[in-house]
Amino acid sequence: MARLIDAGPGCPTPTPARRVGHSETGGLTYTAEVKAETDHLYPLASDFITPMEWPAIAPLVAAINRLKAERNAVILAHNYMTPDIFRLVGDIRGDSLQLAREAAEVEADVIVQAGVHFMAETSKILAPEKTVLIPSLEAGCSLASSITGRDVALIKQRYPEFPVVTYVNTTADVKAECHITCTSSNAVQVVEAIARDWNTDTVILVPDQYLARNVASQTDIRIMTWPGACEVHELFSASDVEALRLAHSGVVILAHPECPPDVLEAADFAGSTAALAHYVRDHRPAKVVLLTECSMSDNVAAENPDVNFVRPCNLCPHMKQITLENIYDCLANMRHAVDLEEGVRQRAKAAIDAMLALPKMTAPLAFKTGLAARDITVISPA
Ligand code: 13P
Ligand code: SF4
Repeated sequence: MARLIDAGPGCPTPTPARRVGHSETGGLTYTAEVKAETDHLYPLASDFITPMEWPAIAPLVAAINRLKAERNAVILAHNYMTPDIFRLVGDIRGDSLQLAREAAEVEADVIVQAGVHFMAETSKILAPEKTVLIPSLEAGCSLASSITGRDVALIKQRYPEFPVVTYVNTTADVKAECHITCTSSNAVQVVEAIARDWNTDTVILVPDQYLARNVASQTDIRIMTWPGACEVHELFSASDVEALRLAHSGVVILAHPECPPDVLEAADFAGSTAALAHYVRDHRPAKVVLLTECSMSDNVAAENPDVNFVRPCNLCPHMKQITLENIYDCLANMRHAVDLEEGVRQRAKAAIDAMLALPKMTAPLAFKTGLAARDITVISPA
């Protein structure tokens, strides 16, 4: 079983090590003032931060919350953030699609993207007048680095008759070359809409070959793709699902559509991070597994204390670059502002706007499970 962490039922995955007094935080201390400002927040964190640890964390939380007010800043926190970030300082929480919509609408001068770099770029594309900060430049993504704008330009030269959809997990350069973006919350809707617009039965969906294969099994549209993969989700396999069912009788298995198709085939439900959270909230299974990034279970478990979470998962090394310390540092020093060339930004925005202009779905897409994988064409890099 390809799992990096199995914290077991009810036990949150470890948050990154605290570095109290580190230069990033300028040696913040737990004063009476900090205590008064943060005491009401401790109950939100008491399941994963002990009373002994709290005095090391509360000063950071207080300092971040003060800086947010001073700078008129909001923190957009992806579902994969560790619970300290997600629950204690995140203002708007959600999946890639929800965060993109919020970036376009939120009233703030500064956005801190508690997520990975492509998400910060998406915010800047949609809100160029705002300062968008990414707390760590190391927060990349294996999908975003699997393809370049030049690769897409060559694909379009080779297949000018087919529209190119890019998963939102890509750089602005890639989005700028594509006709429309999608997320895992709306991928099938986007593929079918663009096929209708172009009057074609074939759509190119890059760069995630597994998302593309999973979309292909949900639609009659013929899908072509690119050999990219999420380094976190590609580690899950159908034998993991089988082993989980054997070890945990009656467990309900939910998977993200970046997992290989045999995982979705064996799972009970699949969808974006938002879809997985909705499933747990709406169905309240007695025992559940989320086959996705580790912190997701911690965050969903906090909202569903009566549900028993079995927690095999894989850590995203990029998401885990974001810490309370570097959120504080980027806000204190206005460090790591995203900057995009205006022509690229506008062309990337056209692709995102095309997605956002589609009718808003009432709920994030639920991928049908139990379907056999369809063979699809994988375009080889030139
Ligand atoms: P969601 O759009 O489902 O939040 O996924 C983003 C992501 O990076 C998953 O690995
Ligand atoms: Fe990228 Fe995968 Fe990490 Fe999501 S989990 S940010 S797709 S590497």
